[in-house]
Amino acid sequence: MTENKKTLYHALTPFLFLLAPENAHQLTLKALRWTPPSLLNLFFQKKTSSALEVCLWDRRFPNPVGLAAGFDKNAESINSLFSLGFGFVEAGTVTIKPQSGNPTPRIFRCPEQKAVINRMGFPNGGVALFKSNLEKFLSRKPRAKGVLGINIGMNKDQTEPAKDYTSLIRTLAPMADYLTINISSPNTPGLRNLQEKGPLTELLTAVLEERKKSCGSNPPPLLVKLAPDLNDQQLEEIASVVMTLKIDGVILTNTTLERPEYLPQDFANEKGGLSGAPLTQKSTAIIRKFYQLTNGQIPIIGVGGISNAQEAYDKIRAGASLVQVYSALVYEGPGLANRINKELAELLKKDGFKSLEQAIGADNPPQNKETGDHHAEQAKSA
Ligand SMILES: Cc1cc2nc3c(=O)[nH]c(=O)nc-3n(C[C@H](O)[C@H](O)[C@H](O)COP(=O)(O)O)c2cc1C
Repeated sequence: MTENKKTLYHALTPFLFLLAPENAHQLTLKALRWTPPSLLNLFFQKKTSSALEVCLWDRRFPNPVGLAAGFDKNAESINSLFSLGFGFVEAGTVTIKPQSGNPTPRIFRCPEQKAVINRMGFPNGGVALFKSNLEKFLSRKPRAKGVLGINIGMNKDQTEPAKDYTSLIRTLAPMADYLTINISSPNTPGLRNLQEKGPLTELLTAVLEERKKSCGSNPPPLLVKLAPDLNDQQLEEIASVVMTLKIDGVILTNTTLERPEYLPQDFANEKGGLSGAPLTQKSTAIIRKFYQLTNGQIPIIGVGGISNAQEAYDKIRAGASLVQVYSALVYEGPGLANRINKELAELLKKDGFKSLEQAIGADNPPQNKETGDHHAEQAKSA
């Protein structure tokens, strides 16, 4: 049921793939921006089953399929992206100062393996542009249905990371439905070291303090986005820091530095983070481990190689409350969120779940039932 059906997009890919990946991406963003929302809604906006709704952090996600960070770095096409049927959109990664990122070419496709390698290095127009684009989106009436995440990172030349993250929180937190601290991109030197216990504790403490100052009694949930290349000890330490500091959630995972043997050599030789199909199992395994380590108490957004409903469902059953996609959009096209949602509702029904929330962690029940499962806690207090 979840095998990918051929669509008009599949027929067009040989032509689209004549363009360099980054040019195709820019063209897509422009086309989305210039297409009237009513037209996009007509083609893509489908009513999703109410069984797919997820209530988390006092936010209502109309469906669990989100667009991952990196697609709309400057928050310029958010409204149109919601029109494609996503339940949430994560804009960014944004940095304080504009930066051009690494030299091009810096995105590489491998259609045979449905994979992508990127070494973008956070190219973006900086926080001032991002904020002004966000203001335009937020002033739209009515605002598109769905939850807006903002993903923040540090500039390449910053030697004191907390300065950038706290400053970004000061400016952007009041506008976000949730905030993501990105410390897992492999393309900013030193960034992934912030996942080590000491630096992580220091950074998150500073960031939580700033959120409290900037947002008072109504702060947006704060999430941390992690790499898939963490060993068991690192993962245990991170789980313990996240629980101790009461971080609201984690995003698992960013791209991997691993290169499976079956990848064509010239593609595998490109430096950067690998995403798409080769990441599917690896990111699900990390979700499974983290869900156990935190007894299901820390909500997880699962991302990495999802291209169909079954792959999304596997991550949910391993412990993810929500999922995101990026690379599969390149290979499956703009109807992807709708297809996943439609088939996910069928998978839930087939397994006898009345709501998606019941399926979270179904394959991976927390071993410590006393403290487990944040959704059960929420249901009890509702
Ligand atoms: C071209 C490209 C750019 C990306 N840029 C970012 C980024 O700016 N910030 C971020 O947190 N993740 C970024 N990512 C990672 C994705 O958000 C996602 O975590 C990863 O690609 C795994 O999901 P996928 O296999 O569905 O692509 C990027 C991925 C790609 C392919």
